Amino acid sequence: MTTTTTRVVDYPPKPVVDRAGLPPGPPEWPLVGQSFKYVFNLLDFIQGAAAYGDLVTLSVKPALVYLVNHPDLVQELFVTNHQKVGRGRITATLQYLMGFGLVTADGPLHLRQRRLMQPQFHHRRIAGYAQTMTDFTRQHEQNWQDGMRIDLAREMSDLTLRIVVKTLFDLELPDTVRRIGAAFELSNNYIKARDNQPPALRRLFHRMPLPFTLRFRHGLSYLDQTVYGLIEERRRTGLETDDLLSLLLNVRDEEAENPDDAVMTDIQVRDEAITLFAAGHETTAVALVWTWYLLATHPEIQSRFHAELDETLGGRTPTPDDLPKLAFTERILTESMRLYPPIWSTGRMTFEPITLGGYDIPAGAALTAPQLNIQRDPRWFDDPLDFRPDRWTPEFRQELPRFAYYPFGGGPRLCIGEGFAWMEAMLVLAALGQRWAMRHDPAHSIELEPLVSLRPKGGMPMFLTRRG
Ligand code: HEM
Repeated sequence: MTTTTTRVVDYPPKPVVDRAGLPPGPPEWPLVGQSFKYVFNLLDFIQGAAAYGDLVTLSVKPALVYLVNHPDLVQELFVTNHQKVGRGRITATLQYLMGFGLVTADGPLHLRQRRLMQPQFHHRRIAGYAQTMTDFTRQHEQNWQDGMRIDLAREMSDLTLRIVVKTLFDLELPDTVRRIGAAFELSNNYIKARDNQPPALRRLFHRMPLPFTLRFRHGLSYLDQTVYGLIEERRRTGLETDDLLSLLLNVRDEEAENPDDAVMTDIQVRDEAITLFAAGHETTAVALVWTWYLLATHPEIQSRFHAELDETLGGRTPTPDDLPKLAFTERILTESMRLYPPIWSTGRMTFEPITLGGYDIPAGAALTAPQLNIQRDPRWFDDPLDFRPDRWTPEFRQELPRFAYYPFGGGPRLCIGEGFAWMEAMLVLAALGQRWAMRHDPAHSIELEPLVSLRPKGGMPMFLTRRG
């Protein structure tokens, strides 16, 4: 069986840059630069560095990272220069899990895969998954009781996991879903552990037979077996279902010169399936958790949210047709993803030199544009730390620079699952909000855990109250 860990790709070498011409940045220590701050206090470090300007140099030995803190510069990077930049080395760790799916592929491979997959995410197609989303939400809440204290982070993660496994693979046996989730968590833990190492140690870390590395390989092998097993079964039996895996298997590239190249290989299908699985459930779970937390800590907004649900749905389970009528719920989610962007920073690597903010950036450089900085910048949002869904009037949206708010990224690499995520998050919020009110456990203090997604450290304890 082919696994992802054996495939490698060449990127432009890390550039040697003349330090004199670099954008400003925080002071650095000899030899280690700012690596300690990066490893031990990443969020404070990134947020604090914004004080040095709209384009800042970070020195995370042996690499330099350009920190982009202005919406216009993000636009230049993601849109104007999109042909000269890509993901490259910055998603190297994710390649162990995802191979070369949409998140990690670049150049012609990314263009082709995106062209083939984009139609599968059309609004009409994803609306077909709405019933699964609400059915599973209803099943999930059957375990909830009035007055119960739950870990909402665990609950949302389990629910979005079940939804993604069903919509992607048409699997729903609890034991299988649990094993897939556990295998993903092992690889996720590994990716976290590796990414938290200074760059100089990362390759070494992957080669050593550490418990982390061994557990990761074990989890990856289970995911591979499951996905390749499903691919083999579908190809052998010709079975077609409505899940995303079937769509990946059946998609045809009308532009392919050679008929053999018109379909995806098994490896490509595997990479895209694992990519959608990994990119699709954790992010949505995190968006839901922060939204519930903000509702729970703003009772007046939670009451207005309940009132909108009661008035619009009158006790009916929500459908996609209801979503445009839930305008306040949409503002709540928009504002929640502003304050707590599920992907807290989005990066690019340069494949060719570019100019940004008046600085020459060489090929092979890493740049990161943290949503967490820009979406909390008082230049674009008054009282940026306040949770104010009402700020999202049409006029406000119109005046906002395009990349002052970009929880789903932008340009040609905009999140392909944006519509799927919006529908899922809105349906889950509405279906649960009809029946439950949340109160945050005051004994729990909130700390952000900046992994690939922005999780609350130590979960999110909530007390449930049954409504009505
Ligand atoms: C609230 C939920 C989600 C958030 C906040 C989110 C955010 C993002 C962000 C920031 C990017 C990078 C965009 C860029 O580089 O410009 C991205 C890419 C991506 N996301 Fe999402 N995402 C979410 C849900 C989903 C879902 C549900 C799926 C799939 C079902 C998905 C699949 C992907 C894929 C495949 C990419 C790579 C696209 C490409 O490079 O062409 N995401 N997402």
